[in-house]
Amino acid sequence: MNFQFTEDQLMIQQTAREFATSEIAQSAVERDKKAEFPFEIVKKLGELGFMGMMVSPEYDGAGLDTISYVLAMIEISKVDASLGVIMSVNNSLVCYGLDKWGSEYIKNKYLRPLAKGEKLGAFALSEPEAGSDATKQHTLANKVDGGWAINGMKNWITNGVNADYHLVMTQTDKEKAHHGITTFLVEKGTPGFTHGVKEDKLGIRSSDTCSLSFENCIVPEENIVWEVGKGFTFAMNTLNGGRIGIASQAVGIAEGALDAARNYAKTRKAFGTEISNHQGIQFKLADMATKVEAAKLLTLQAAALKDAGKKYVKEAAMAKLYSSKVAVDCALEAIQIHGGYGYVREYLVERYLRDAKITEIYEGTSEIQRIVIARELLKD
Ligand code: CAA
Repeated sequence: MNFQFTEDQLMIQQTAREFATSEIAQSAVERDKKAEFPFEIVKKLGELGFMGMMVSPEYDGAGLDTISYVLAMIEISKVDASLGVIMSVNNSLVCYGLDKWGSEYIKNKYLRPLAKGEKLGAFALSEPEAGSDATKQHTLANKVDGGWAINGMKNWITNGVNADYHLVMTQTDKEKAHHGITTFLVEKGTPGFTHGVKEDKLGIRSSDTCSLSFENCIVPEENIVWEVGKGFTFAMNTLNGGRIGIASQAVGIAEGALDAARNYAKTRKAFGTEISNHQGIQFKLADMATKVEAAKLLTLQAAALKDAGKKYVKEAAMAKLYSSKVAVDCALEAIQIHGGYGYVREYLVERYLRDAKITEIYEGTSEIQRIVIARELLKD
């Protein structure tokens, strides 16, 4: 596959890089320490068109391709992986699905403000007893006068505290198992809908994660996304694209760690010379750079297939599986190259490790990615 980026794609990459350097990098450390949500930056990302990158301009999106999205995600995540996931969830898990399967009513009322970054979205599939085993949804929605009554609980929801609109997967017909799952768009503030406290996380600390609770929460019929019974297919197909987003986030983290390690190695002296002159360090940098490149190519490949309208389920899972491992590996090596300095907050590389770990867990653990890849491999 040949990745000669177009002028437009390069411009998006450059815009994201400049924005990350000038508007995000400086406050990232403080926000990580205080676990502070970056409201202002998210607003500015929206103004740049980065919160609805792949949404068609007809619905106020930027109308860009997945390759551009990957390039922007890498640049943003390189300086702040928390912003990476906020952006990825809104773009891949919320806007993409609504653009593809939402009704005209949903697109006009909800997708437009989400695509402009005026409103924020969340994707609520996981539950206390349905994480990897996502077909086992316990949250119920029953038909009542005026719509559907939702009862149940969701867990680990990124943007859960601050999102305005939540896509909630519910069981509407137990007999039909996962073919009886339906997605509802639930607005913040709907009676019976509350969120739990913000989780105190190891990494991606300035993004918010929480549980959601539904007690007789009545949602109108027109807020069904796609159709009754299509909720699991909606979630799986949306997650396929989401995995490209998280793979990009992981590549960004890995690249950030590599840059930090290289810069440090070129200035730190030991045994009478910069440590970059020692083969032990050079080999580490060479391995890191090779892995970053391979992870990036896998991610771009998945994005290119998606843009070409071809199947990309396996490739997206491979990209996420590999890139998330590379992010953890590179963050660990960056710490090793920094020695003791890598272990303290002042030198920033420890954040890469804390942020990297979650990429092996959310939007399908590495074990789930292997299941997806193997099933696709064995299909034909
Ligand atoms: N793309 C499209 N369809 C898929 C799919 C994929 N990647 N994976 C499974 N499916 C379809 C299957 O084709 C099947 O469809 P039919 O029954 O119509 O034929 C259906 O889903 C059920 O699949 P299986 O029979 O294989 O069911 P399973 O229980 O053995 O496996 C699973 C399903 C693949 C493990 C699935 O449950 C899964 O992907 N789990 C992980 C869930 C996940 O990624 N959660 C992340 C939460 S979101 C998150 O983290 C958001 C955040 O805030 C950051």
